[in-house]
Amino acid sequence: MSLLTAVVLAAGEGKRMKSALSKVLHPVAGRPLVHYPVKAALDAGATRVVLVVSPQNREDVESYVVRCFGRETVKTALQEQQRGTGDAARAGLERVETERVLLLYGDTPLIRGEELERIVAGLGAEPGGSAELALLSCVVDEPAGYGRVMRDAQGRVVAIREQRDLRSDEERAIHEVNAGVYAASTAWLKAALGELRPDNAQGEYYLTDVVALAAPRARAVALQGDPEALVGVNDRAQLADAERLMFRRIARRHALAGVTVRGDGPRIDDAVSIEPDVTIEANACLRGTTHVARGATIEAGCVVTDSQIGENAVLKPYSVVTASRVGPWAQIGPFAHLRPETEIEEKAHVGNFVETKKTRMRRGAKANHLAYLGDGDIGEGANIGAGTIFCNYDGFQKHQTVVGAGAFIGSDSQIVAPVRIGQGAYVATGTTVTRDVPDEALAISRVKQETKEGYAPRLKSRLQAAARNKRG
Ligand code: UD1
Ligand code: CA
Repeated sequence: MSLLTAVVLAAGEGKRMKSALSKVLHPVAGRPLVHYPVKAALDAGATRVVLVVSPQNREDVESYVVRCFGRETVKTALQEQQRGTGDAARAGLERVETERVLLLYGDTPLIRGEELERIVAGLGAEPGGSAELALLSCVVDEPAGYGRVMRDAQGRVVAIREQRDLRSDEERAIHEVNAGVYAASTAWLKAALGELRPDNAQGEYYLTDVVALAAPRARAVALQGDPEALVGVNDRAQLADAERLMFRRIARRHALAGVTVRGDGPRIDDAVSIEPDVTIEANACLRGTTHVARGATIEAGCVVTDSQIGENAVLKPYSVVTASRVGPWAQIGPFAHLRPETEIEEKAHVGNFVETKKTRMRRGAKANHLAYLGDGDIGEGANIGAGTIFCNYDGFQKHQTVVGAGAFIGSDSQIVAPVRIGQGAYVATGTTVTRDVPDEALAISRVKQETKEGYAPRLKSRLQAAARNKRG
């Protein structure tokens, strides 16, 4: 098979997005829009991708694709002025050296590699083998907004007409539309692009007009494909639709790979990896580069970003985990908040309304209720009581709390960092720890209790009288 270059058009202004961010950089399932067509082109066997960018988005688009795919694989071509898709294609083709070229738009995230391969194979595949141009079309219920594929009485493709240039109700009633994916012989396409004229409703150079140029000698073929491939993003409503479809596709991919994906709601970013026998509840969100190991459970409402979840760990409902690690068999939540650089080791438990930050909980340690544990190192099997606060911040600096293995921190204690609590030490309930506690020691700081026998009824009647006086 000869070499293939893909040209991806991404220089459009994207006005309909009404955004300061370039359209092709808007995220879909955690990756910029433009990622998907570039990836699909590579999947389809393109050895190089030329991305057509504008002076406005060049820097941002280039830095993303180079970082993601490498400088050797993806090159950019500059379209100085946004004069239409035909003009953009011309800019891109200047950098194409292979005999065949695949052309697609940077705003169609649902296009797949297989679909592109079919179009490339369509070049020269028809009887006589003379097609210079093959394109993907879809038959849809609502063709409005797309270019229509016009065919003659014999079914041969004669032109693509843009929505705004449609001339009759008959033309508007055509349901076969242009998906915006083309394969062509490079030399032929270069010549055809040179002949384009901006004589249409928008005064632009339309790439789609090359179809009419190919038609007289029956050099264009349209292959019908999956309508999902068509979903293009021009505004944010379409962005939302595309992302919904993408999330569904990703959920299905994981389901087929052995993950139990409940309902149709979980939002799993494209870069997330999940091992078999994981269960993900319907409305969980898995974002960024999260990895979930075998047998883990992610319950309803959890939001997990850039984190590693260990084998058989359980994230109970509504836990938020960011840039952290959760070890095997650990239990988190419900309603726990693990902030960046938290490390929960094997079999450790973090319960409801516990917040951690930059804290390591070693094997089997537990903090089951209501605590703030910032900048801590909590030893194996230690128990952190309800209401414990690691006072890690003095208004200027953060300080560390170290709790030894097997230590017990009684409820409602404040641990004023920097401080170390020794192995097996015991901090009595309500203690404010300000100095290190040696191994095996007891730390207790509390005001002595005073008890007044028979005092309660007197106190109550005094309070009752005061209330009565006030009401008048
Ligand atoms: C285009 C097709 C239409 C097809 C539809 C499928 C044309 C004229 N029309 O319409 O037939 O049904 O896609 O989604 O091609 N771009 C540039 N430079 C420009 C203009 C656009 O790089 O000067 C890029 C855009 O960034 C975008 C792509 O080309 O990624 C498509 O442009 P857009 O304006 O979205 O075309 P549509 O109106 O959607
Ligand atoms: Ca578009």
